[in-house]
Amino acid sequence: AEVVVVEDQDAAGELAADSIVALIRSVPDAVLGLATGSTPLALYRALATKIASTGLDVSRVRGFALDEYVGLPAGHPESYRSVITREVVEPLGLDPERIHVPNGSLEGIEHAGADYEKAIAAAGGVDVQILGIGTDGHLGFNEPGSSFASLTRVKTLTEQTRNDNARFFDSADDVPVHCITQGLGTILRARHLILLAFGEGKAEAVAGAVEGPVSTSNPGSAIQLHPHTTVLVDAAAASGLR
Ligand code: F6R
Repeated sequence: AEVVVVEDQDAAGELAADSIVALIRSVPDAVLGLATGSTPLALYRALATKIASTGLDVSRVRGFALDEYVGLPAGHPESYRSVITREVVEPLGLDPERIHVPNGSLEGIEHAGADYEKAIAAAGGVDVQILGIGTDGHLGFNEPGSSFASLTRVKTLTEQTRNDNARFFDSADDVPVHCITQGLGTILRARHLILLAFGEGKAEAVAGAVEGPVSTSNPGSAIQLHPHTTVLVDAAAASGLR
């Protein structure tokens, strides 16, 4: 992977946004892989600003979210459908019809993963996948032990991830137990990966992903199997690298 250490989240957001703007200029119906969580927020802000100031036409841009909680009521403010609408679709002015999120409702959950894979394939695959990383090294919600060949499917969140995400809910108990996530195999099919990580809390996960042994106990290490990965980190998140 190409590792770039930047000053802060805003600097990473600027760099990543520049490369996405360039992509959309050359491929107006580009397919973006969208992460949720705190990490990509500066990137989405930078992208919104650039789109507004340049008048870039994003009407044909397509997107696929990485994951979704299972079993949250429709319209729950912390469902990733709601988060993607609020943080990405609206500020960037994307066409909501072209932005997909795995279906986390219980009805039809048994075929939701296969449906999502079909939709990604029908779109021609993901051009650039934006990724954060969990403190336990997860990509999407592929927790340690996930196969590198895995495709979109239902998974159980670890206690660590549910605690990490408790800040978005009233309590850790309110964090859903299950999720539906693109697999590591799905993620590895994207043509370019941009992994963002900030702060000391991510240092161990970043070191494991970039330099650790390639192992399913360390899902982030899957990026070492991809020929085109850019890792944008601040000094704190880079502090575990040798
Ligand atoms: C989000 C996702 C997760 C997060 C990771 C880091 O769609 O799939 O892998 O990227 O949990 O979360 P933050 O950015 O909130 O630290």
